[in-house]
Amino acid sequence: MIPQSQLQKLESCPSGPLQILPLTGAAGLAPGENGHSFKAPAPKTLTLSVAIPTYNEGKNIGPLIQRLTTLLDGALPHDYELIVVDDNSSDLTWQQALALTATYPQLRVIRRRGARGLSSAVIRGWQGARGQILAVIDADLQHPPEVLIELLGAIQQGADLAVGSRHVEGGGVSEWSLARRVLSRGAQTVGLLLLPRVVGRVSDPMSGYFMVRRSAIAGPLLNPKGYKILLEVLGRGGIDTIAEVGYVFQERQEGASKVTWRQYIDYIHHLLRLRLGGRLGLLQQRFPTQRFVRFGLVGLSGVVVDMVILYLLHSTLGLPLTRSKIFAAEVAILNNFIWNDAWTFADVSMLQKGWSARLKRFFKFNLVCLAGLVLNVLLLNVLYNLVFGQRWAYAANLMAIAIVTFWNFWLNLKLSWRVTQVK
Ligand code: GDD
Ligand code: MN
Repeated sequence: MIPQSQLQKLESCPSGPLQILPLTGAAGLAPGENGHSFKAPAPKTLTLSVAIPTYNEGKNIGPLIQRLTTLLDGALPHDYELIVVDDNSSDLTWQQALALTATYPQLRVIRRRGARGLSSAVIRGWQGARGQILAVIDADLQHPPEVLIELLGAIQQGADLAVGSRHVEGGGVSEWSLARRVLSRGAQTVGLLLLPRVVGRVSDPMSGYFMVRRSAIAGPLLNPKGYKILLEVLGRGGIDTIAEVGYVFQERQEGASKVTWRQYIDYIHHLLRLRLGGRLGLLQQRFPTQRFVRFGLVGLSGVVVDMVILYLLHSTLGLPLTRSKIFAAEVAILNNFIWNDAWTFADVSMLQKGWSARLKRFFKFNLVCLAGLVLNVLLLNVLYNLVFGQRWAYAANLMAIAIVTFWNFWLNLKLSWRVTQVK
């Protein structure tokens, strides 16, 4: 009979980011976390957990588990686990894996329903893992199991991450066509262009055969979409030292690859997300929309003030245009400051009371607005002459105003109404 403790069922999986937790003596994933009926494994920590993502690998799973067990029983007796993460394969890989647990007590099986995807399968496996070191290996025997021992050696010698690489000494591909090599290298080059500091850290960033210290990736949210989990580990983990171990990517003997064009598109998407993710995410999270709307409304009131004063001084009193405009603009700036101080940034002004503090804010606001005016004129010229063409002066002006509004808002937020530490 198969022990139930070795089957972890995940009935459904959210598509949001996943997190690996530090080992605290117990399991990596708390029971019921994310709303899952995930049964936490026995509270025993191990040296190594190997995640094995499978999708229709029924013919490969038996030989793979047998070879891995032989190797690891020698290197880490009773101190490792193999975690098959199967996405409810139609060939019932999960059932076969489960049957194998009777023979291989270090084997555990996660059968996911309602979720598909290589990266998320790997992260899921690691979430339930008990190892201090987390590894991943393909189930189709294209990754030679023996290399796992070398990867382990590299981590034990101090590396945070050990990557099986096709592009260092001892590495290669067996019988790849020119087209496939070009595609693989092309993907790497695109990665180098878009994300040099991540992709450039290893010779084979496409590798799905690696090992990482849990402490290096515990904490940050990992995005489980896409095929290339190594990018996520490199991009979000705290990886200082990296070791690379050459291996020859074997030909598939059984089953079929799951790679389609879709994975290439996902890959580019993944690169862009890592590239922009941090900053864009921060902007989205922190962009103070309400403040910005208020700032914009105040700005509009300033336009009205400016116009009215200009009309009074120039058209009614007959003062020269430039002098009238300078005065009108300054009054508009004062108007805007008063409203922004009392409304847009009221919470900040409350913290920085007193006339001298207010005067300081006004001075900074003035400077930012004047710089904004110069920027406005410059932008108008650039847009008018180079982008829009000369018949579109007002479109160019509108765009210049929009850009300068952002500039004004951002700088005032950072300078004039900056939240400082209050004692
Ligand atoms: N659970 C799960 N869910 N497993 C999956 C899924 C999925 O949606 N898709 C693929 N797998 C499993 C496969 O069963 C196999 O064990 C492994 O992930 C790799 O999938 P393959 O379809 O065989 O991919 P490959 O050989 O073309 O791709 C490999 O390319 C790299 C080299 O460029 C990657 O998977 C890397 O691991 C490899 O190093
Ligand atoms: Mn494969």
